[in-house]
Amino acid sequence: MPRCILSPLDLSVEELNGLMDTAMDIMKNPEKYSKTCEGKVLATLFYEPSTRTRLSFEAAMLRLGGRTMGFHSADSSSATKGETVADTIRVMSKFADICAMRHPKEGAALVAAEKSDIPVINAGDGGHQHPTQTLTDLMTIKALKGHFDNLTVGMCGDLKFGRTVHSLIKALVRYDNVKFIFISPKELMLPSYIRDDLLIQNNIAFREVTKLEEVLPSLDVLYMTRVQRERFFNEEDYVRLKDFYILDKKKMDLAGKEMLVLHPLPRVNEIATEIDDDPRAVYFEQVRYGMYIRMALILKLLEIKVK
Ligand code: CP
Repeated sequence: MPRCILSPLDLSVEELNGLMDTAMDIMKNPEKYSKTCEGKVLATLFYEPSTRTRLSFEAAMLRLGGRTMGFHSADSSSATKGETVADTIRVMSKFADICAMRHPKEGAALVAAEKSDIPVINAGDGGHQHPTQTLTDLMTIKALKGHFDNLTVGMCGDLKFGRTVHSLIKALVRYDNVKFIFISPKELMLPSYIRDDLLIQNNIAFREVTKLEEVLPSLDVLYMTRVQRERFFNEEDYVRLKDFYILDKKKMDLAGKEMLVLHPLPRVNEIATEIDDDPRAVYFEQVRYGMYIRMALILKLLEIKVK
């Protein structure tokens, strides 16, 4: 089986640091990398909608001199005729050198990886994992804070279904003395496999609260998330919870001058546009870091060394 990335834990801390160093070097010296993937093809297999992740992968491959192909919805693929993920990846292995796949079902990327002859990158599987969003988040924090150790990280919104939250927690617990504050309505609290099996079992410091205002002054990073309509079983619950948190100017006045606001995007109402120009609001900058870290990941998985 080729090297695949299904979870952020598939990369060691040393490998993560190496990827971030490469991504920083690409940002500084884009010309050095602009032909490194000539002749290589990236397939993007997206069974679920995406703007950033798919196009970020495509931009990454194009900026490395490679080419891209793929589909952007299950409806435009032979999944509609009943083709399995396992068969689709076997076919893609004949066309492409590497693939990024998003699927609404948890575990779909693992099924693909087991049958693939090419590296598979999980670009999101249901409410489970989204490792390259985690690389993006880590890269943003590293670039703007310089370190992870001793940070207090607040995560706010849909902590139950938010795969970006689950992946980021798994990655951050590997650093020293990272403290977490989880801010959510009761219905959207962390699932037990993160809360009990990961945090409690490993003695990680965390608090769970419902009021954002009371914890804002103590945060180094605030990770806002969208309440995801597509993960709810009934519309009534979604409507009741969707605007539970809205980060606006008044709330930002309670936060420290150095606190960073991250968001995986897309946002709906949870961040008021009035704070977009606040220097602490770095969610659009975060998107740019995401492209560079994906460039570094593609190079690593294709085993392309650049001197
Ligand atoms: N952050 C993220 O996964 O965005 P998309 O759904 O647009 O890819």
